[in-house]
Amino acid sequence: MGFELKNIISIKDFKKKDIEYILKLSEKMEPIAKSEEKSNILDGSILGMLFYEASTRTRLSFETAMKRLGGNTIGFAETETSSATKGENLTDTVRTVGKYADALVIRHNMEGTARYVAEVVDVPVINAGDGAGQHPTQTLLDLYTMQRLLGDIDELHVALIGDLKYGRTVHSLSYALAMFGVKMSFVSPSELKMPRETLHDLAAAGVSVQETEDIRDVLAYADVLYVTRIQKERFPDPQEYLKIKGAYTIDSKLLQGSEAIVMHPLPRVDEISHDVDNTPYGKYFQQAFYGVPVRMALLKSIIK
Ligand code: NCD
Repeated sequence: MGFELKNIISIKDFKKKDIEYILKLSEKMEPIAKSEEKSNILDGSILGMLFYEASTRTRLSFETAMKRLGGNTIGFAETETSSATKGENLTDTVRTVGKYADALVIRHNMEGTARYVAEVVDVPVINAGDGAGQHPTQTLLDLYTMQRLLGDIDELHVALIGDLKYGRTVHSLSYALAMFGVKMSFVSPSELKMPRETLHDLAAAGVSVQETEDIRDVLAYADVLYVTRIQKERFPDPQEYLKIKGAYTIDSKLLQGSEAIVMHPLPRVDEISHDVDNTPYGKYFQQAFYGVPVRMALLKSIIK
């Protein structure tokens, strides 16, 4: 059976079978992502990239994915070079680029933007992050990383660590892990706890979650330490950020004796010490690579 979602807006729109479909197809895409095989399946297709917020990996891996499949990309990486600076509103911009491209990828600092865009354009829309909301394509690559490196996702215990309040990657990921019945621990300073609404939804789905402020509480049994950056740009008060910055750091000494792998959506600031990078724990650059085959699988599935 094929893939039926038109837009990729929230991981909550996925059923488990949709996720499994993408993970399976991603595996087939890996040799193309590594340039071991060539493909032209998206020959002649154009992806419109509308990045109203900063991005390195998401934007460049979408571009890589599109080009490795024989397609092409248009768009902007910062609004300074788009007509937004002349006062054009978002609706007019996306309607226009929607006429040029076969699908759109959008990142915006306002929650709900991608869902709105999908309502005003005819082509498929992919949410590349909407404020503190959702980041579904990151979640798919996170799941793919876990499956590739550790096997069955269902069997894992995953600790989500850091800014669980404003981090959109952990918001998406927790819903997906719940679909797989994964055991979860949420580790954060008390000011950055997972939103109550998410906790409520997870409880309603029958998922039990352990919350703690101390990472040492989870080291003994976590298979994955999913670390996140404090989302400085989403703090309403910069003073609040300054109070909390540097609240946690994972270094190789702390990890000694643990059997977990360390993942991170990146960019990191100071939450993972560089001495972890070349240990068997550090998997975040491998994870960033997996963004390419996973986004290839998504593009192939939604561009008709
Ligand atoms: C994340 C994001 O933009 O939400 N980055 C990414 O897409 N890999 C994480 C972050 O910015 O901290």
